[in-house]
Amino acid sequence: MQQQPLISASGLVRSYRASRAGLLRRGPEVRAVDGVSFAIRAGEAFGLVGESGSGKTTVGRMVSATLRPDAGTVALLGEPFAEPMPLARRAKVQAVFQDSLGALNPRLRIGRQLEEPLIVHGIGAAERRVRIDGLLADVGLPRSLLLRYPGEVSGGQRQRVLLARALALRPDLLVCDEPVSALDVSVQAQVVNLLADLKTRHALTLLFISHDLRVVRHLCDRVAVLFAGRIVESGAVAEVIGSPAHPYTRALIRALPADRPGPRRTAARAIAAAPDLATQDLATQDLAIPDRATPDGAGCAFAARCAAATPTCRRSAPVLRSLSAGHEAACHLVAAR
Ligand SMILES: Nc1ncnc2c1ncn2[C@@H]1O[C@H](COP(=O)(O)OP(=O)(O)O)[C@@H](O)[C@H]1O
Ligand SMILES: [Mg+2]
Repeated sequence: MQQQPLISASGLVRSYRASRAGLLRRGPEVRAVDGVSFAIRAGEAFGLVGESGSGKTTVGRMVSATLRPDAGTVALLGEPFAEPMPLARRAKVQAVFQDSLGALNPRLRIGRQLEEPLIVHGIGAAERRVRIDGLLADVGLPRSLLLRYPGEVSGGQRQRVLLARALALRPDLLVCDEPVSALDVSVQAQVVNLLADLKTRHALTLLFISHDLRVVRHLCDRVAVLFAGRIVESGAVAEVIGSPAHPYTRALIRALPADRPGPRRTAARAIAAAPDLATQDLATQDLAIPDRATPDGAGCAFAARCAAATPTCRRSAPVLRSLSAGHEAACHLVAAR
């Protein structure tokens, strides 16, 4: 019997009304996320990659129930995960975002901010001390840090504090949205290695969001590639990176360094080996923000960038089709093979 997924997202849709230059002029509605579905098993690290504006953060916020979808559902062990819900259930999904300074209160000592979720959840003082010591050991921070303010520690240390705070209530799922993108390359590698280590030691289940395929390759078991609010390809990391089917995934992989690091390479070397993927991608593409769809709203969103696009691609949107066990892609040309 197949194991029930820990978390499943079904048909998530979310639109924003873009506000244009002036305050009063309201722009057209942008479909940030357009029918995204995936399931993550307990203990699995699931990567969500895509360029800036592809809808990754919007998916992460819907999965962590900090943003309500226009349509679709998120379920934790088969039961809806949506507000309003009891505090204890709410704590089962925790998120860490890129901006560590913005996520912490600059006027409160770090120790106090680590303790806060434990207090809110009614955990007594003695147990709180034990848990905080354990958390510091888990994320490799010294006790002396507890007395410092967020502005007094490095970006890498702040990101570890956020990780510790997210883990404090022993969540079932940790959502990490670009958790290392703001850090220096060498520090990025340390935090990625820490996440890999936590995943192994605590059987952590991860939704890891990144524009950087190299980091996902190092950390994740499965990956979904998001383009213009839709998943265009998903599967085991080795499969998707080893035999990419969708032209967009292939373009992402072509942008990786020619010296393709094997699995034994450390994250530090893999990350140091190449300049930022997004920068490369944008340098080779004219469009910074993906087209949401062709002007009449139909067709494949990637068609405008795709060298192989046919009239069919511009006319009708491809749906995800299975290529082999667990490997799916949404491309008319792949389906026709
Ligand atoms: N609060 C918002 N208001 C208006 N548009 C938004 C808002 N948040 C995101 N968007 C738009 O939704 C799309 C997806 O954004 P986002 O989920 O942040 O993508 P990513 O995390 O992949 O960069 C983008 O076009 C973005 O401009
Ligand atoms: Mg984002």
